[in-house]
Amino acid sequence: MSVIPIINADQLSTPDVIANPYPYYRELRRHTPLDYMFLPAGTVAGIDGPIRAWALMNYRDVYGALRDHDTFASGQNPLAGKIAPRLALIQDDPPRHTRFRRLVNRAFTLKRIEALTPWITDIAHELVDEITNLDTEVMQSYAIPLPVKVIARLLGIPGEDYRALKRWSDAFLAFSSVAPGARAQSNQEMMAYFGQMAATRRAHGAEDLITALVEAEDEGESLGDAEILGFCMLLLIAGNETTTNLIGNMLGILADRPELWQQLREDRSLVGAVIEETLRFESPIQRLPRNTTREVEVSGMMIPQGAAVSIYYGAANRDPEEFSTPDEFRLDRDLKNHVAFGMGIHYCLGAPLARAEAEITLNAFLDRFPVLSRGAAPAIRQSTSLVVFGYQELPLILETA
Ligand code: HEM
Repeated sequence: MSVIPIINADQLSTPDVIANPYPYYRELRRHTPLDYMFLPAGTVAGIDGPIRAWALMNYRDVYGALRDHDTFASGQNPLAGKIAPRLALIQDDPPRHTRFRRLVNRAFTLKRIEALTPWITDIAHELVDEITNLDTEVMQSYAIPLPVKVIARLLGIPGEDYRALKRWSDAFLAFSSVAPGARAQSNQEMMAYFGQMAATRRAHGAEDLITALVEAEDEGESLGDAEILGFCMLLLIAGNETTTNLIGNMLGILADRPELWQQLREDRSLVGAVIEETLRFESPIQRLPRNTTREVEVSGMMIPQGAAVSIYYGAANRDPEEFSTPDEFRLDRDLKNHVAFGMGIHYCLGAPLARAEAEITLNAFLDRFPVLSRGAAPAIRQSTSLVVFGYQELPLILETA
C-alpha cells in the first residue's frame, strides 16, 4: 500500500511553505516527482484555472533533469512573458543559448570579476563602518545594498541610479506583493533604461560590462541592442536578490553558532567551506521552471510531453541519499556537489562573483565584530517570491571590540 503524504503538495506555493520549506521537502521528497499546484487560479492574467507543475526534489532527479536540457527545456515556458518579461539566456535553449552564452562569456570574464574585487572590498568596509547600532537589521544595512552596488558598478550605472535597479528587480520577482499594473510599469522603466544605456555605449564606449557586451564578438557574430538589454535585465534579476540571500542566510546561520564564529575568527581557511555549506544548507534559489519536450520517465513516473516541471535545487541539496545528515550544517562534508548554482549548460554565470562577495563580506564581518548573535526582534523570512529563500528582516547583534 502506498504511503499518502501528510502534507498536501498543493501548499508548496503558499507563504508559510515559502518561508520555511524544509519540513515539507522532507515529507514530500520521497513521493516525487509529483504533480502540484504551482500557482492558484487567477494569479496570471488570461489564465483562468490553477497552474500545475511536476515537482522534482530528489538530488538524482534534479541532477538528471539539469543535465538533460533537450528534454527539460528552459525556453518553452508558456508563462514566460506573462508573469514577467522573458529573460535572455536563462530562458533560452540551444542553439540560441549556445551562441548567446559564448558571446557573453567573452565579456563576463573572471578577469573582470577579479579586477572588481578591491572595489567590492572597499564598499563592504564602507557599509560595515556605517553599522553603528549594536542591534542592526542587516538586510537593509548590508545584504541588500552590497550586491546592487556591485551589479551597478559592473554595468557602469552611475551613482544613485543603483536605487532604481533594486526597485525594478524587486518588482520583477514579487508575484503577489506588487500589483500587476505596477509590476508591468516597473518592467517598462527597466527596459527603457537599459535600452538607452546600450545605445549610449554603442556611441561612446566606457570601462564597463555593457561596453564589453557591445564589443563582444565570436566568429563574426555580435550581440544586438535587444540582446544586451535582455542580458542586463537578467544580471539584475539573477545577481541581486540571490547574492543578498546568500549573505543573509550565511549571517543568520553563523549568528546561531557562536563557537563557529570564534573558530572562523581564528582560522580564515574555513571561510570558503562556510560559503559552500550555506549554499547547500539554505540555497538562495529554491526552484526554477522547465518544460518537457517529450514524454519522460523520472523515478518510475511518466511525465507527459509539454508538462511544466519545477526543479527544486533547495530540496535536492537536502537529499539524504546524497548528503549524510543533510539537515545539519557541517563543514566536514564533500562541499563540491551541491546544485545551488545549477548544473549543465545553464550553470550560474555569476558563481565566481557571488562567491567573491560572500567571502569579502564574511572576512569584513569577522575583522570587525568579535561577537555575532541574534537581535532582539524576530527575524522574518521572505514569503512572496516563489524562487528565492532568504530573510526579509534579519536583526543581528554585532559587537565591536
Ligand atoms: C548566491 C548567488 C547566486 C545563486 C544561488 C545563483 C544561482 C543560479 C542558478 C541555480 C542558476 C541556474 C538556472 C537554471 O538552472 O535554469 C543560475 C544561472 C545564472 N546566474 Fe546565478 N546565482 C547567483 C548569483 C549570480 C550573480 C551574482 C550573477 C551575475 C551577476 C548571476 C548570473 C546568472 C546568469 C546570467 C545565469 C544564467 C546562465 C545560463 O542560463 O546560461 N548569478 N544562477
